[in-house]
Amino acid sequence: MLIFNRQEDLKNHLKSVAKENTTIGFVPTMGALHQGHLSLIEKSLGENQVTVVSIFVNPTQFNNAEDLEKYPRTLEKDTQKIENVSKEVLVFAPSVEDIYNGNTVSASFNFDGLENQMEGEHRPGHFDGVGTIVKRLFEIVHPTNAYFGEKDFQQLQIVKKMVEKHQMPVNVIGCPIFREQNGLAMSSRNERLSAQQREDASLIYKTLKTAKEKFGTESAKEVTSWVESVFKKNPEFKLEYFQIADEDQLLPIQEKNNSKKYRAFIAVFINSIRLIDNISLN
Ligand code: PAJ
Repeated sequence: MLIFNRQEDLKNHLKSVAKENTTIGFVPTMGALHQGHLSLIEKSLGENQVTVVSIFVNPTQFNNAEDLEKYPRTLEKDTQKIENVSKEVLVFAPSVEDIYNGNTVSASFNFDGLENQMEGEHRPGHFDGVGTIVKRLFEIVHPTNAYFGEKDFQQLQIVKKMVEKHQMPVNVIGCPIFREQNGLAMSSRNERLSAQQREDASLIYKTLKTAKEKFGTESAKEVTSWVESVFKKNPEFKLEYFQIADEDQLLPIQEKNNSKKYRAFIAVFINSIRLIDNISLN
């Protein structure tokens, strides 16, 4: 399997293998790969002639220094996992220097307000960092199709918005959330949970599923109060937000409107570990 640590080497290789009609699938990641990431890679392999996976812990999207420092870095294990799926994948694992050339400052983006909701409100600057790195990676890889998980639904919508606004020739493809057997959404941050916390964290998806049922007959306000009461009763959790929003604009729901698609979004702390999840409501 080929692993590239420098953008120039990857670009040169892609130039030599990608002819005019070659489709390039791209899966950007920050490593600590799990089955969720691998499901995106498998989808890309099935739909493209060439698949590139990037592994890069992007400093500009972390608003919390401790989170960046503690983010798991497991490059060898990651490449092994990719190789078990397919030896054909091209892995791009650059250094911070190679990507940012000494200037780790984000560009500033306007995503028509998508960036001000939920994760954007609670993680200032986060989506400028995501926009900066995804744009840069797209310019290096020039993918035909790029795969993003619905686990980070707001990120998925923001990348779609960026591609639309900057008229980038990339199809952004959303992929379903991959879960542990107990329902916990797979996440690289789950590695920091103890076995007990991992079990306890199944409450997050269990609560989302009940919220979805309740949304059939109750108002968004009632559902939200119920979710808040669930986490108040479980002091090992600290609920940061629970929000029901429409999928397009991510604005908090006002009146239910049957022509709109809604999702419930949640961010919860267990100790200092922050987990997010979401569920489609209709
Ligand atoms: P990371 O958290 O490593 O996630 C990489 C991709 O995997 C994202 O598109 C994410 O939504 C998807 N993913 C994560 N967990 C998943 C799950 N349980 N099921 C399905 N897909 C899942 O998201 C990032 O990295 C970064 O912000 C990045 C886009 C790479 C930019 O730095």
